[in-house]
Amino acid sequence: MAMWISQRLFCLFFLHAILIVSTQSSASTSQKNINLIRQKCRRTNDFNLCVASLESDPQSLKTDVKGLARISLQQVLVKANQTLLIVGKLFNQTHDRIEYEFLGTCIEEYNKAVSIELPGAIIALDSKDYGESKQGAANVTDDANLCEQQWASGSPVTNQNHAVRDLSMVAFGIISILG
Ligand SMILES: *[C@@H]1O[C@H](CO)[C@@H](O)[C@H](O)[C@H]1NC(C)=O
Ligand SMILES: *[C@@H]1O[C@H](CO)[C@@H](O)[C@H](O)[C@H]1NC(C)=O
Ligand SMILES: *[C@@H]1O[C@H](CO)[C@@H](O)[C@H](O)[C@H]1NC(C)=O
Repeated sequence: MAMWISQRLFCLFFLHAILIVSTQSSASTSQKNINLIRQKCRRTNDFNLCVASLESDPQSLKTDVKGLARISLQQVLVKANQTLLIVGKLFNQTHDRIEYEFLGTCIEEYNKAVSIELPGAIIALDSKDYGESKQGAANVTDDANLCEQQWASGSPVTNQNHAVRDLSMVAFGIISILG
């Protein structure tokens, strides 16, 4: 009887120990990844934006540097795509000839970013062609600047252009860590 009880107790103790170890290990995995994010973001030009954007995606908590670069490029893609839609709407609504021309240029730039450069940068990243991937991100920074700088005193989409510029520079910084 005593033997049986002590076996049971031992089993309970053992289960408990396993539970404790497994919760601790998943907590320390995400802590490790928060540390990874911070450590890598320090090597980009915008630590706060880098941390905030990566930590907004739960996938960042369970991936490596390449995974972080991929998430970052996806975030640029989403933002560039949103900007393209907004620019397209403004383009369709404007009655001003100059505005029409400038917005048309923005559409060309963002079309290129969304359909060629960013998908290309993601494919290049996956195949470890970090130079090509970085170049794609850098080109998107240029696209956003080119759209914005047509207007001498601010475009109708300044916030979006700046968001794409800043996120693409973060992506560039993370890819640069890889090579
Ligand atoms: C881009 O926006 C369109 C809608 O405007 C949407 O259908 C598409 O899924 C978006 N693509 C990405 C990669 O966000
Ligand atoms: C702008 O107008 C064209 C032609 O009517 C249409 O195909 C396109 O979807 C419109 N773009 C946006 C972003 O609303
Ligand atoms: C980046 O832009 C340059 C100059 O326009 C072009 O030659 C190059 O092919 C582009 N590369 C990528 C990866 O988008």
